[in-house]
Amino acid sequence: MLQGKKILLGISGSIAAYKSISLVRLLIKQGASVQVILSPAARDFVSPLTLSTLSKQEALSDLFEEGSWANHVMLGRSSDLFLIAPLSCNTLAKMAHGHCDNLLLATYLSATCPVWVAPAMDEDMWHHPTTKTNLDLLRSFGNTVIPVNSGELASGLTGEGRMAEPEEILAMVQNYFSRQAVFAGKKALVTAGPTYEPIDPVRFIGNHSSGKMGVAIALELATRGAMVDLVAGPGVSLPNHPGIRSHSVTTAAEMYAACNDRFPTTDLAIMAAAVADYTPVTVAGEKIKKKEEGLDLPLTKTKDILKELGRQKAANQVLVGFALETNNERANALQKLETKNADLIILNSLQDKGAGFGVDTNKITIFDRAGQEAQFPLKSKTALATDIIDLIHKKFYE
Ligand code: CTP
Repeated sequence: MLQGKKILLGISGSIAAYKSISLVRLLIKQGASVQVILSPAARDFVSPLTLSTLSKQEALSDLFEEGSWANHVMLGRSSDLFLIAPLSCNTLAKMAHGHCDNLLLATYLSATCPVWVAPAMDEDMWHHPTTKTNLDLLRSFGNTVIPVNSGELASGLTGEGRMAEPEEILAMVQNYFSRQAVFAGKKALVTAGPTYEPIDPVRFIGNHSSGKMGVAIALELATRGAMVDLVAGPGVSLPNHPGIRSHSVTTAAEMYAACNDRFPTTDLAIMAAAVADYTPVTVAGEKIKKKEEGLDLPLTKTKDILKELGRQKAANQVLVGFALETNNERANALQKLETKNADLIILNSLQDKGAGFGVDTNKITIFDRAGQEAQFPLKSKTALATDIIDLIHKKFYE
């Protein structure tokens, strides 16, 4: 049921717009309130009158109408989900590049709720590199792209590019809202990425972590209703989601301070960052000049953030750490579970092809304190984030 959910439905100019009529009906039948916004081109494909009648609200299209101004800021702020179905190539390109020449685009640019798009186009357009680049841009803004189907297309050709069926979109929307309730009201703390420990004004000690795993976890938690504080190291591409507050830090000491401040009010903490274990004792004020002999660089240990939080952990808090290993993986992971007082340790091994730093995939095993372990095959970090949060939900919140 979608009782009380406010859904904005954007319709752009595509032959698939006829399916939006069924989508409105299905959403309304489930109890959602639906506000339709048409792009100017969409009006050539579906009638605003039909959509207004079915949605029981005037279908909007113009920024300015008979002396009044459609408040696109409030539309995007007061909704639970902005669904753009169908998404045409033209609207996609405009969304990707910040164009704002109609009400649908103005609402998109000012929307603070999650945005989902359901592309619809002919196969050749679907496979054009521009389409892929523009969809990647939308994903990088935190938008969700609903996969297209394969089948008969408006051109008469058969191939990829058909908009998902209204029933499929409805199932996704229902699934989203039911999953969202799971972590509603919970506060999460997630670390991601590397830390950089400065040596002098131009050099640092760092590592290859991209922060993708931590960001995927933060997004998954936010999607399920948690309020997430994401503490991210340098170079991490920060997500755009109303449920995530990002805090950029550089050094291990800064990451520790950011986590320590927030941990007391946190329900669930997941430490996915690759924190430097050592930092230079002193930071040279000027660039260290090259000499004939080698260089001794005295290092001191950084604070182990996970271990510190493990020390402070209250009975109602859940603490999860990662272990990145190259050898003796299982034994090392189990030792980290124990010494850091974590509830779970997620092991990824650099021995596994496609796992670890920089790549979009990972392969993990999760160990708990009861001696149970769960293995997950190589898959995208986004899919693994879903598995991780599913497991945490089952173990600690069901
Ligand atoms: N971690 C941390 N603070 C540190 C070092 C590590 O919070 N100063 C956390 C990581 O975020 C991860 C876990 O501890 O969740 C394990 O990190 P890992 O680098 O695998 O292990 P280390 O404890 O650093 O031990 P080692 O490098 O010897 O394997």
